[in-house]
Amino acid sequence: MASSVFLAGDENWWRQAVVYQVYPRSFKDSNGDGLGDVKGITSKVDYLADLGVDAIWLSPFYPSALADGGYDVADYRDVDPKLGTLADFDEMMAAYHKRGMRVFVDVVPNHSSDLHVWFQEALAAAPGSAARDRYIFRDGKGVNGELPPNDWPSHFGPSSWTRTTNADGTPGQWYLHLFAPEQPDFNWDNEEVIDDFKKTIRFWSDRGVDGFRIDVAHALKKDMSEPYPKIPGYDETHIPLDGSHHLFDRDDTIEIYRGWREVFNSYDPPRVAVAEAWVPTERRPRYSSPETLGQAFNFDLLITPWSAKKFKKSIEFNVDLAAKSGSSSTWVLSNHDVVRHASRYGLPQKANLEKWLLSDGEAPRLDRELGQQRARAAIMLLLALPGSTYIYQGEELGLFEVADLPGDALQDPMWLRDSGKRKGRDGCRVPLPWEKTGTSFGFGTGGAHLPMPGWFGDYSVAAEDSRADSTLNLYRSALELRKKSLTTESLEWVRSKGTVVHFARPNGWHSVTNFSHRSVRLPEGKVVLSSAPLVDGKLPGNSTVWLQK
Ligand code: BGC
Repeated sequence: MASSVFLAGDENWWRQAVVYQVYPRSFKDSNGDGLGDVKGITSKVDYLADLGVDAIWLSPFYPSALADGGYDVADYRDVDPKLGTLADFDEMMAAYHKRGMRVFVDVVPNHSSDLHVWFQEALAAAPGSAARDRYIFRDGKGVNGELPPNDWPSHFGPSSWTRTTNADGTPGQWYLHLFAPEQPDFNWDNEEVIDDFKKTIRFWSDRGVDGFRIDVAHALKKDMSEPYPKIPGYDETHIPLDGSHHLFDRDDTIEIYRGWREVFNSYDPPRVAVAEAWVPTERRPRYSSPETLGQAFNFDLLITPWSAKKFKKSIEFNVDLAAKSGSSSTWVLSNHDVVRHASRYGLPQKANLEKWLLSDGEAPRLDRELGQQRARAAIMLLLALPGSTYIYQGEELGLFEVADLPGDALQDPMWLRDSGKRKGRDGCRVPLPWEKTGTSFGFGTGGAHLPMPGWFGDYSVAAEDSRADSTLNLYRSALELRKKSLTTESLEWVRSKGTVVHFARPNGWHSVTNFSHRSVRLPEGKVVLSSAPLVDGKLPGNSTVWLQK
């Protein structure tokens, strides 16, 4: 820990930061075991500094049996031995801080791993004990408790209840898990749980961590009183606006975050946080207010089809919403849970992505060129917006989803638990290609935990580094220019054709995106960057240009 370099400075650094999400197991493997690790992340500090991001966010690297890619945490205050040690972590922190980059870590407060010492204690303890009260145990229904307490589904299907076995081998109580059975939900009415998470936040803050990404931030508080309601679905369209859902976005959830805010603010500079909260947009400010987590992911553009009108509407709404909540907006196109956007943009708008994955990416056909063009245009649009942008590892290479992973290679509990109905999220979690050739394209020397397709070589860092017009070089140029052009958090819309999104920042930085297939006339101004070569002085379809006026 002594080696950590703490970054001082502006406490508003996060408001317009570009944050790069590292999915540790798939980033860079330093010891040839096929799994990315902490030393691997340290070894790529120059790459990320040259890319020009302000911060990195590490998905979980804690001890875990990897039942859900690490979101099943067995110990919140340690590093998974498969990925390294706390000393490696300190070394990594120091390296990133030295290059002026901040570090976010993931906090997973809704559930632990079933291997967490508390859950093991709970299993060994009697019903009604203090050890069981840290989780959500209930007696079953039916004559002998053989039926689950209710029919709530888990996100990964089918049931959100699993029955335990008593020490004498007889069947016991049931416990709640909104995700996999290996991810038992905590009871957030329990004081020990509340205290322990504050301890975790302090533990990482003391090690110099600058920010926290809060996993399923809206699920912590639950109304477990009977009668249990029917729960039609888990997406935010089913969550009412009045905080009355039994499982999600309950009003008192943010009391937890008020408590965390005190901890964040006891540091200098205050630690920051960003909520992953799939709630109706109107309710997002509750999580992003300066009294609670300070910022929340805005996934609206991630689910917005490629349409100028829809993008504009969503941007307008979110810039406004952020201002009202005292936060800044976040912009996101991809993360470790969704099909990579270079693929989404190359498929017909209405394509069913789950079916597409089940067809191994064969039907409908992916138009790679179109997907790539739009992905390049989209990131330039995002980077010109007021607020912060979250980039997912590999999108700077223009990587597509690996849609044809064979069933026996898949690790996602969505696939494993839902009888092969959903292929899940492994296709965006395939390790990064660093070199043009080699069994794992420079990811490591001992293969990769998910198969890497042959075409990855062309999208490797080495291949793109040497091509002036590569997506990697576009990201580098855009991030460099953005840094120079940063200005106050507002924008003004400029009148344009219906298929064009044109806005200006207060310092005369204009961004123009052409959502159509036809070239459009370029507005006046000095061209500073373009996602595609201009054609006869015009902006081609599916591209963005930045102008300075
Ligand atoms: C994470 C997922 C994870 C789930 C359960 C999510 O929101 O991003 O990867 O499966 O939480 O922890």
